[in-house]
Amino acid sequence: MTLSMQEWIFTESFGRYTIDLGDSNVTPLSAADLLGPDALRELARLPLGYGHEAGLPELRAAIAARHARAGPESVLVAHGAQEAFSLLIRALDRPPRSEAIVVGSGWSQHSALPAEEGMKVVTVPLAEDEEALLAAVAKAATWRTGAIVVASPDNPTGWSASPALLEALSEIAGSYDALLIVDEEYVIDGERSVAGLNESVAVVSGLSKLHGLPGLRIGWCVARPELIARCTRRKHLSTIANSVLCERLALAVLADDAAFRRRAATLCGAGRAVLRAWAAERGTVEVLGSGEELPFAWLRLAAGTDSLAVARAALRGGVLVIPGEVFDRPGHLRVTVGRDPAELRAGLAVLTDALADPAAVRQAA
Ligand SMILES: Cc1ncc(COP(=O)(O)O)c(C=O)c1O
Repeated sequence: MTLSMQEWIFTESFGRYTIDLGDSNVTPLSAADLLGPDALRELARLPLGYGHEAGLPELRAAIAARHARAGPESVLVAHGAQEAFSLLIRALDRPPRSEAIVVGSGWSQHSALPAEEGMKVVTVPLAEDEEALLAAVAKAATWRTGAIVVASPDNPTGWSASPALLEALSEIAGSYDALLIVDEEYVIDGERSVAGLNESVAVVSGLSKLHGLPGLRIGWCVARPELIARCTRRKHLSTIANSVLCERLALAVLADDAAFRRRAATLCGAGRAVLRAWAAERGTVEVLGSGEELPFAWLRLAAGTDSLAVARAALRGGVLVIPGEVFDRPGHLRVTVGRDPAELRAGLAVLTDALADPAAVRQAA
């Protein structure tokens, strides 16, 4: 990988843009957007105790209620899907569970984290042909496999696994007493979740992306209770508990979830239409994949275009986009569409200039 997401977002770009078309969440909301003045005042009086290491019981119950097949004992609140994933990987029995099979995922943490934990990572590339993909996973799975990891929808490609594929993957995992970890970060509709499908399935998700609340750091893991207990022990040894302030805000969000779904659908739908019109005008930028409900779009640039140079030129113009290099896919950009259309248009105008930057087109010439 020529450039990591961490380097791009937190080193090279941090503080250097005014329009964010890079972060993959819909426009973030504030605490004042979430609560009225009375409820805000009440929140300000909340004693800042530790709460509970597994998450406030009311919050665990509210998360469980989103999933048809899970009770509160199957839910662990974590600092984002990211911590939930990390706790699951760290809770695997190792050795002998020394390998992780990562299906496609452009989200590089899915490979980086097991590797950092000393696991061997076997990557199975994404394929539209689900039977071929399943056969490749079946071939890679062994008694050394601790986890099969898949993001559905995937970031950045927007690829999604069918329910049948996820079930078949869980059966492969189950036949080796391994875990299928499904990253549902971009699933806002709990009814679509595969949480609780069977004992081999663990799901991670949270409020960061489609709810537009990444700074709340509220995510979760839904898995069989015994595994939740093992993850809770790891959480106790690292962060102990989530902030009770954030958990209270999360409860208010989940109490009004339908409104968040509508907001996400409106922002993402309108934004994607703006982006499509812009791309059609350019003629040199192709909007790939489907993922209509996603907050981001995945773009292929004209052959030979230097996507990192485009992203750097956009940054000089005050706009953050994500160069394909951070996903090991040069020649592509990830652009956030879950924005107010006026802001998105302003950002795309800068991107138009960036695409014409001499450094970006040098290779194409
Ligand atoms: C697929 C995927 N999983 C997990 C995360 C982590 O998000 P969070 O920890 O904020 O829930 C991201 C963030 O971009 C993501 O794209």
